[in-house]
Amino acid sequence: MSNITVREALQDLAQALAPHSETAPLDAQRALAHLLGRSPAWVLAHPEAYLSSPQVAQLQDWLRRLQTGEPLPYVLGEWEFYGRPFYVTPAVLIPRPETETLVDAALRALSTRPSPRVVDVGTGSGCIALTLALERPGLTVWATDVSWDALQVARRNRARYGLQDRVPLLQASLLEPLAGPWDVVVANLPYIPSMELTHLRVARWEPRLALDGGLEGTWWLRALLAQLPSRLRRPGGHVLLEIAPAQVTALREVVRHHLPKARVEVLSDLAGMPRVLWIRT
Ligand SMILES: C[S@@+](CC[C@H](N)C(=O)[O-])C[C@H]1O[C@@H](n2cnc3c(N)ncnc32)[C@H](O)[C@@H]1O
Repeated sequence: MSNITVREALQDLAQALAPHSETAPLDAQRALAHLLGRSPAWVLAHPEAYLSSPQVAQLQDWLRRLQTGEPLPYVLGEWEFYGRPFYVTPAVLIPRPETETLVDAALRALSTRPSPRVVDVGTGSGCIALTLALERPGLTVWATDVSWDALQVARRNRARYGLQDRVPLLQASLLEPLAGPWDVVVANLPYIPSMELTHLRVARWEPRLALDGGLEGTWWLRALLAQLPSRLRRPGGHVLLEIAPAQVTALREVVRHHLPKARVEVLSDLAGMPRVLWIRT
């Protein structure tokens, strides 16, 4: 045992996280719970407990990394999405709460067909594809990404949830090698305009390949929409795209061009920002 208590460790973690996080005290509880292999509730209930010497050594390594601004999920090596932990490394985007809006909508879209053919484009950690497969036992969800390193992380997450048989992972650009018809296409592709990336802290840590959406941020979304006429089921297909709020009008136009008969609904995330386009053919 060391002479460092849970209370002191929490204070140190919250202090290291404060410059980079609006939820530093909560994140500190989460981090310490991870370190101790306990729940956040246990951490709160045992402020006087002592850390072991190996736990203190680990804590010191984490504090050093957090002070450089490294995001907590990369330090911990995993992050929660839709109530489940997913491994993350700097090869993948850290799963975001706003993407849960996309998953909720996809689950509703999936209910409209008995055995839908589903694909997640730009799967990263695999959080969307694997969550859909976990929420709909029996469903097969294909997943693509251009990044080989990201696919290795998705593979580890797939093994973590025993989904090797139901989530084929493919290195591909968009839907390039995949013939249709797809019933449901979901995608959280890079959508940040290149110029904005220079000012964003995320760009220092998260892969540019996961963030950079070209001049207006819509490059990859436009490219995917252009692939859909030949690959999406029509009528009866669903497409769910995560977008930036400022892109709604431009992307509606692109949808009108490629899928003239489609209906487009805009869904807001938990913060009330337009975040998902739900396109129905
Ligand atoms: C914004 S991240 C989303 C990751 C994950 N789906 C999520 O929601 O957390 C975008 C992902 O798309 C991948 N990507 C970028 N360009 C792509 C392309 N042309 N085809 C397929 N995947 C691409 C990136 O490697 C990255 O993993």
